[in-house]
Amino acid sequence: MSLELAKRYSTPVPRYTSYPTAPHFSADVGAAAYRAWLAELKPGTRLSLYSHIPFCDELCWYCGCCTKAVRRYEPVSEYLPSLYAEMEHVAQLLPAEHVVMHNHWGGGSPNILSAEDILKLADLQKRLFHWADDAEFAVEVDPRGLDEDRVAAFARAGVNRVSIGIQDFDPIVQAAINRKQSFEQTQHAVEAFRAHGIHSLNVDLVYGLPYQARSSLQSTLDRVLELRPTRIAAFGYAHLPERLKHQRLIATASLPDSVERFGQASRLARVLTRAGYVRIGLDHFALPDDPLAQGHLARNFQGYTTDAADALIGFGASAIGRLPQGYAQNHPATAEYARRISEDGLATARGIALTDNDRMRAFVIERLMCDLTFPARELRQRFGAQSEEILQEAQALLEADQDQLVESDGEAFRVTDRGRPFVRSIAACFDSYLDNSAARHAPGV
Ligand SMILES: C[S@@+](CC[C@H](N)C(=O)[O-])C[C@H]1O[C@@H](n2cnc3c(N)ncnc32)[C@H](O)[C@@H]1O
Ligand code: SF4
Repeated sequence: MSLELAKRYSTPVPRYTSYPTAPHFSADVGAAAYRAWLAELKPGTRLSLYSHIPFCDELCWYCGCCTKAVRRYEPVSEYLPSLYAEMEHVAQLLPAEHVVMHNHWGGGSPNILSAEDILKLADLQKRLFHWADDAEFAVEVDPRGLDEDRVAAFARAGVNRVSIGIQDFDPIVQAAINRKQSFEQTQHAVEAFRAHGIHSLNVDLVYGLPYQARSSLQSTLDRVLELRPTRIAAFGYAHLPERLKHQRLIATASLPDSVERFGQASRLARVLTRAGYVRIGLDHFALPDDPLAQGHLARNFQGYTTDAADALIGFGASAIGRLPQGYAQNHPATAEYARRISEDGLATARGIALTDNDRMRAFVIERLMCDLTFPARELRQRFGAQSEEILQEAQALLEADQDQLVESDGEAFRVTDRGRPFVRSIAACFDSYLDNSAARHAPGV
């Protein structure tokens, strides 16, 4: 029965790491708007920082991130001064009283930075911003380009959470995605971070990859469980070859169909929950004592987080900031990003100013993606009369639902266990921007 649903709900929908989603950003929001928004932040604002390192040693063919492969270190060392300059400029615009709760370096592969540059970037951030005593500092790493010096540098810099890319250990899948990575390499990275006192470790897996099958996925999961990371993210492969040229190196015929994808996602959830992980939202799993399994969840561009900051500041090419007033994204091309930073100090290329209706729908979609429910009482308290619009849409959805994907006890609207794999499609019912453009999003399962 669920396989029938998988077919029916395999139409493309956003992953809702933001609302409105990035395809709806426009050039109406530029550096002037972003500068004004930063200046309006209130004293005491809790901040989250994201820094983008858009470089990798080699390009994985499935990759949907904003990055490029570099053979030499020069492009990286030429990029960093722009990143430093942007941080210095933004620090001057922020209210003097602010507190950074969460720092995240993503990419790309931040471990492409030399040990010296890791320390330099972290030192600069420490000097420019005010930090909470228990601030979280997370980095994404590719274990293939990781050496002892860099692990030690991350630890010295204060990193206390690491996310390690795996995807799949099957050599056939790895050949088809241009990512050869042994279990031993990965295990070595895990052990090295633990030896330096960093025990909060996430690993990334991807299902729906070329030639991937439930049986090979099972072998990958067995090996992942040997590593016992505190968190596991298991993303459905987003194949968008119209937009991402390198994905054209992956033959569409080698991809599992929607029924197999659904089977893989179900297998993943079954195996990981049986192994003691708690299922978080759409695609994350965490050990029961991990804060993700205990605290209030939020959704951001990296997926699920416990980060409760009032504003997210993005640094680097393509980085997105989320301020109370709206979203602002930097130019994605490193050369243009550097040019804008040197001329203006900011490199905002597009974004969107939020309306009250956007804020209300963002609340509903984030709660559905995190908790699989939204509380009607809180919705009314927060958004007053306009919340009736959402409650009517929820009622219409309940009435039209013939698959028992949603339910209501009169107070809370809830996604059922059966509906959970389709939560993105359910959230999409509250998205007033959705134009059903298939080219822009990944399949709903
Ligand atoms: C910046 S990378 C992680 C760090 C490092 N670059 C690495 O790959 O090991 C972010 C993660 O996004 C996921 N990802 C990348 N492209 C994807 C795609 N097209 N569909 C689904 N997930 C994707 C992968 O799980 C990847 O580990
Ligand atoms: S998946 Fe990671 S290592 Fe591979 S190209 Fe993308 S960012 Fe680089």
